Parts: sequence; C-alpha cells; structure tokens
Amino acid sequence: MEAKAVDSIKPEEDSRWRLINRTIRLHGNAPDALIETLHGVQERFGFLDLDALKYVAGSLKVPLSRVYAVATFYHYFTLKPPGEHTCVVCKGTACYIGGAAGILDDINQTIGISPGETTTDGRISLLTARCLGSCGLAPAVVLDGQVCGRMTPDAVLEKIGSWTSHDDDA
Ligand code: FES
Repeated sequence: MEAKAVDSIKPEEDSRWRLINRTIRLHGNAPDALIETLHGVQERFGFLDLDALKYVAGSLKVPLSRVYAVATFYHYFTLKPPGEHTCVVCKGTACYIGGAAGILDDINQTIGISPGETTTDGRISLLTARCLGSCGLAPAVVLDGQVCGRMTPDAVLEKIGSWTSHDDDA
C-alpha cells in the first residue's frame, strides 16, 4: 500500500515544512531524495519523530519501513529525543548573528547540558537546528514544538524553568 503524508503536518502553517517541501519538489518528489530530505527535516527540527517519518514516506512515496530503516541506520539522525521537553535552538546564520550562541551558553551554564544532550532527570533535551525559515524572528528557538522568535537567554531559561516547576506541581 502506498504511504500517505500525515494530516497533522500542515506546511501552510509551518515554514520549516515549506522549506522541506521545496527541497522535495526540487528533486521531483523522487524516492532517491530520501536521505537528503531526512537531512533537511533533521536540520529544521533537530530530530525525526514518527509523524515526520510518515510525512516524508508519503511525500516521496516510499514505504515507511524503508524511511525508518534509513533513519535508524545513520548515526547522524536522531529519532525523537529522550527528554519530556525539547528545546531546539536555531543556529542558522541570522539566529547565530542574533545571539544563538549566547542562548546555548546560558542553557549550558544553568542546566548543564550541551546540544544533543538530555538532563540527567530526563526532563529536557537540548538540540540545534539550521534555519527554521523564520529568520525575521531571529534568534528563534523551538520550545516543545512551538517556534518562538526574538528570544533572549533569559526568556528561554524562564520557559525551561516553567517546565520544571509545572512538572514539580504535577
Ligand atoms: S537562521 Fe534561524 S530561522 Fe533562519
């Protein structure tokens, strides 16, 4: 049976998926573009979750099992990070110039994790991505899937702090 792109992903509402769709179209929606497309997803989102794998499978018309096999074979690809919450800092040019390095430094100094790492309590995973397609909002950070623009280190740490305090209340 042919794979179908998942309905929960709405490229018209998310510039990251628009950029990925453009790459897919440039390759003529060809299955050969699988690895390059997965690279694009990882660069924009920081990781590949199941919905993203299904979307890529549907767009390129390749079986999900093949997409999954490729995503798990290469160490470069990260399937959904282990933390309960994810913070993805954009390191594209505009965001880098806008202060992304300072955000990463402050996260590292405050909660002790670097990109690709998860806090020892399993609550927060920190990742980086390359250009989210929202350069006008630089520096941009994706907090639990929501793209947040013009972020400062303090604003990011405040959000991360709210995750921890809400979790403590639960
Ligand atoms: S460089 Fe960060 S959104 Fe484009």
